Parts: sequence; C-alpha cells; structure tokens
Amino acid sequence: MEFDAVLRRRRMHRSFTDEPVPIEEVNALCEAALRAPSAGFTQGTELVIVRDPQRIRTILELITTQDWLTNAASHQGLRHSQVLIFPIINQQAYLARYAEPDKAQSGMATEDGWPQPYWLVDASFATMQLLLKVVDLGLGASFMGIYYGAEELRKLLALPDGLHPLGILCIGHPSNPRLTGSPSRRQRRSTETLMHFEQW
Ligand SMILES: Cc1cc2nc3c(=O)[nH]c(=O)nc-3n(C[C@H](O)[C@H](O)[C@H](O)COP(=O)(O)O)c2cc1C
Repeated sequence: MEFDAVLRRRRMHRSFTDEPVPIEEVNALCEAALRAPSAGFTQGTELVIVRDPQRIRTILELITTQDWLTNAASHQGLRHSQVLIFPIINQQAYLARYAEPDKAQSGMATEDGWPQPYWLVDASFATMQLLLKVVDLGLGASFMGIYYGAEELRKLLALPDGLHPLGILCIGHPSNPRLTGSPSRRQRRSTETLMHFEQW
C-alpha cells in the first residue's frame, strides 16, 4: 500500500471477523516491528505472539472485567482477535548495553542516568511499525494498556523476572467500519495548532 495511505488509514480497530490471520502475515508483522530503531542498537524489544484460540480467550478474559466489558460495548468484538502480540520491555538489556565499553562514558549503566527510558521508547517504536504493517496487510489492530490481571498474565506468558509487556496488540480482520473509542467522541486536533516552528 502507498505510504501516505497507510498513515491515513491507520486507526485502532476493536472488532474483528473470524477470518484467520495466516502465519506468514504474523511473521511479516513481527519482522516489521523488529526492524525498528533501538538505542545503542540494543534490540531489547522482543515479542510474545499468541495464536492459540483458547489462550487468546483466556488472556482476554484475564485482562478485562465484566464491568469493563459491559461498559465498553465497542470492545466486544475484540473477542474475535486472531492473534495477540505483546511487545516485551527489557530494561536490564539497556542498562547492560550502556555499560559496554563504547557506551560506558554515557553514565547510563544505571537507571537514574537515563534522560528518558529508552526501553519504553524502543518498544513503542517497534509497536508503531507493527501497527503500520497491519494496515499494509489489510488487517486491523488495537493497542491497549494492561490494567487488570497483569501478574497472572506474566505467569501465563512465562515472562522471566524483569520483563514486562508494553501493552497488548489485538489483531484480526476488521469487522466494524465505524469509528470506536475516543475518536468517536473527540475531534482530531488540527496539525497547525500542534506545530511550533523555531519555538513553542
Ligand atoms: C499508549 C496508548 C494506550 C491506549 N490504550 C487504549 C485502551 O486501553 N483502550 C482502547 O480502546 N484504546 C487504547 N488506545 C487507543 C487510543 O484510544 C487511540 O489510538 C486514539 O484514540 C486515536 O485513535 P486512532 O488510533 O484510532 O487514530 C491506546 C493508545 C495508546 C497510544
């Protein structure tokens, strides 16, 4: 797909059909994500991919509540997600990388030496590349934070200590062309009001 069209079409989808997403497309999504830049070429972001329908169901039940599902009608279609991808943050990988000889002078071998948490920056960049590839493949996805069941989820995904999901990507073939979520309630701010040339 043409690049500007990808940017224009990208939006969060919260409802999917039951059409499967083939493994080749899952691989292409992951490759797009993992091609993202990373601080010091640490390449600290890894991905956990869940395709088993029973595990998908269990995870979605774990990280939602009945109350939330009842109040978030637009999210009901998430239960048809065909793939879940968790971008995994590994802070320790960055501290170790910045303790290596070519980076040691940066003073970033400990957390308080970091002006920004690059482990989050890198995982976010990777996530964005994945979201763009989703559009390129004609799929839909939504990114959500994990508010409930985080500890049980860590166990279910067998995440080692110190590794955390940035959030959850629910992926499938979109089934609802209407806007859902915040954009259905809020206007997009015009670019002119958000651009500040030379100074704020
Ligand atoms: C960090 C982050 C967290 C988000 N968390 C949620 C969420 O928990 N639930 C949800 O439905 N959408 C979530 N979203 C999606 C935003 O609501 C959405 O990106 C925004 O409203 C703009 O809409 P669009 O992406 O469809 O253009 C999140 C987006 C980001 C970037």
